[in-house]
Amino acid sequence: MMENIEKNIDVENATNEHFVEVKNLRTSFFVPAGEVKSVDGISFNVDKGKILGIVGESGSGKSVTAYSIMQILSAPGKIIGGSIKLEGKELVGLHEKELAKIRGGKMSIIFQDPMTSLNPVYSIGNQLREAIYLHRTLPKLDKDGKQVIDKDGNPVFRKYTKKEANELAIKMLTEVGINSPEKRLKQYPFEFSGGMLQRIMIAMALCTEPDLLIADEPTTALDVTIQAQILELIQKIQKKTGMAVIIITHDLGVVAELCDEVIVMYGGRIVERGNADDIFYNPKHEYTKGLLASIPTMDDKERLEPIEGTAIDLLNLPKGCAFSPRCKNTMKICLEQYPPEELVEGVHRCSCFMYIKEEIDKELAESKTLESTEVEAKENTEEAKTEDNIEEKSNKEVANDGE
Ligand SMILES: Nc1ncnc2c1ncn2[C@@H]1O[C@H](COP(=O)(O)OP(=O)(O)O)[C@@H](O)[C@H]1O
Ligand code: SF4
Ligand SMILES: [Mg+2]
Repeated sequence: MMENIEKNIDVENATNEHFVEVKNLRTSFFVPAGEVKSVDGISFNVDKGKILGIVGESGSGKSVTAYSIMQILSAPGKIIGGSIKLEGKELVGLHEKELAKIRGGKMSIIFQDPMTSLNPVYSIGNQLREAIYLHRTLPKLDKDGKQVIDKDGNPVFRKYTKKEANELAIKMLTEVGINSPEKRLKQYPFEFSGGMLQRIMIAMALCTEPDLLIADEPTTALDVTIQAQILELIQKIQKKTGMAVIIITHDLGVVAELCDEVIVMYGGRIVERGNADDIFYNPKHEYTKGLLASIPTMDDKERLEPIEGTAIDLLNLPKGCAFSPRCKNTMKICLEQYPPEELVEGVHRCSCFMYIKEEIDKELAESKTLESTEVEAKENTEEAKTEDNIEEKSNKEVANDGE
């Protein structure tokens, strides 16, 4: 099966566009108290063969982003704007019949709780076979073993037989490290441990040969050793199949190990993005810095410094930066405007006035040095006006205590 996946991917890799393109996505929940802007204008891409991490505290909009891509939002949730393209095909507004083919076929999701996807009253084998019947076909061959072609010249495909589906299910269970797969197929979800169920979920998600796998906090409920095994397994299969993967987690440690690129979400928006090293070793946003400080190290078993303040209330968002009520460095401008996304370097970007201020401070210090050597920074005038503004505002507010 894996060979098939590899072949498909080689053929499809000829395009320039990103495999997944999310542009200005906005998803809201319309509750009696008002509109909850769970995802508020986020954009990102994922390519095949890459792992994107989405991190952020609980309630930041990670799952809603995943459900929006999968188009499995339930009422009162609704995509109210933006675009989600998979291989160039727009998914927003697509007919449910077409979506059902893509969902499960081209993209699969692993949920935090395996029981969200597994039915307790059916055996594992039954459920794996169903997924295969629904999303997989085999080339129809004539009695000489040649591919059957229809009158329009297209190859004809047929459904899996029960025996073939069983064989594939066994292969998938073996792939995810389940011993005695023949025996296991006859068992029911309650007969498995949490770690095993998570593996079965992965097998289930992969048996449809997805090109995009979304793993929504797949290890949160598992102990640390099993967590590591599950993540290694996802990475191993991803390397083998070349699929695109989105891993959602509140744990920055996970992204550092696994992800090519990372987006950090807060209040339904992306506040920082970059490659794993940018985010892990050179965070620029005050929220990302807080998240990093709260990761327990190998020596410190307990969380070091959880970010203070209560989680965000999406119904009552502050006017400026959503993190401002919890940020140690809030300036006046943070309360008035949403910080624009600024380029840090390469793919590293961040939306934080503190970062802008630090850059301005740096530039000012540099220009002072230049002035003193009689070099006029003429071209800086325009930028300096805006920047001076932020500088002026921020200097009033920030006690210069280096905190
Ligand atoms: N079914 C729902 N009804 C109302 N609001 C919801 C629902 N699901 C999610 N939300 C809102 O969207 C926000 C983001 O949720 P979610 O994406 O699940 O967060 P997380 O980052 O923990 O995955 C939540 O804080 C909540 O306010
Ligand atoms: S924009 Fe301002 S309030 Fe928001 S994280 Fe940055 S410094 Fe803090
Ligand atoms: Mg979630």
